Amino acid sequence: MKKKIVFSGIQPSGNLTIGNYIGVIKQWVKMQEIYNCIFCIVDLHSLTQCNNKLKLDKTILDTLALYLACGINPNKSIIFVQSHVSEHTKLSWILSCYTYYGELNRMTQFKNNKIKNKNINSGILFYPILMSSDILLYNTNYVPIGEDQKQHIELCRNIANRFNKIFGNIFNIPKPCILKNGSRILSLQEPYKKMSKSDNNSNNVIYLLDNKIDIFKKIKFAKTDSEKNPKIKYDIIKKPGLSNLLNIFSGITGKTIKQLEKEFYGKLYIDLKYKIIKILSIFLERIQKNYYNIRKNEDFLKNIIFEGSKKANKIAKKTISKINSKLKLY
Ligand code: TYM
Repeated sequence: MKKKIVFSGIQPSGNLTIGNYIGVIKQWVKMQEIYNCIFCIVDLHSLTQCNNKLKLDKTILDTLALYLACGINPNKSIIFVQSHVSEHTKLSWILSCYTYYGELNRMTQFKNNKIKNKNINSGILFYPILMSSDILLYNTNYVPIGEDQKQHIELCRNIANRFNKIFGNIFNIPKPCILKNGSRILSLQEPYKKMSKSDNNSNNVIYLLDNKIDIFKKIKFAKTDSEKNPKIKYDIIKKPGLSNLLNIFSGITGKTIKQLEKEFYGKLYIDLKYKIIKILSIFLERIQKNYYNIRKNEDFLKNIIFEGSKKANKIAKKTISKINSKLKLY
């Protein structure tokens, strides 16, 4: 039987976080053993930040080295850079002509951005169409993502269905893969919002490259609730800070939340925190050792991107040629 296709991506904007790792990269590592996986570094999406300080050439290699350090294997998976395959932008334009303005305007991420940013660029509005193009170009079956991207995949499925209805079965309809726990790792100080690599307050975030002292400080002072007789019990509504710590623990060790509640029954929050500091420090030390070894070898990294882009180009060109002939764009 033909292997199913997995597509996913991360923006090369700065340092990756344990949210990225637990929410998606960990899934990728497992999926590459079963499926044909394509992992993209979505540099064009980063341009929506309109930030002239972006050093994409550097951050692309940093991101690739982190993918590899976490266990993504370039001999098993295609790894490439979005802007190296021009079909992404071509399909994006085509799909935008089959997407309603109202649909884009309803995207939560866009609405949140609009509140924060008065002078918002139209790339942020079009962002989910480019994301749909990424996915649909590769006949994708599964898309591992964090919770925040769920609405974008729903839109992608709607666009694909609409296009298929008009032109016949061009696209596979992709399914999102979202973890039950860990698909939304929260900010450490403000555990009502997502842990984000672009957070202005670095105390909210554990980066994959954080050192032991930072891990210690950030976890020790992570916000928890102030119950009179605090119990280590998962309750994301009433105890979001504590539940977030349990999700982090579970995401790193593979232990279930039930197992953790049992293990920490009758113990103090600080006991849990110290244990997380220990497991995170050991876990990230291993990733960092791999990372710094791999990052030194730029030729090796560039070659992976070159080979990956060649393979991705081949698949993308086939899809675009099918679409060209349907749209009579010769
Ligand atoms: P980005 O770069 O913001 O994040 C990459 C992936 O990490 C997940 N994620 C999290 N998961 C759990 N907890 C968190 N705190 C957390 N923070 C981030 C995100 O949900 C995401 O899956 N638009 C995408 C990138 C993209 C993409 C695609 C993804 C572009 N094209 C095609 C899948 C398929 C983004 O900006 O992700």
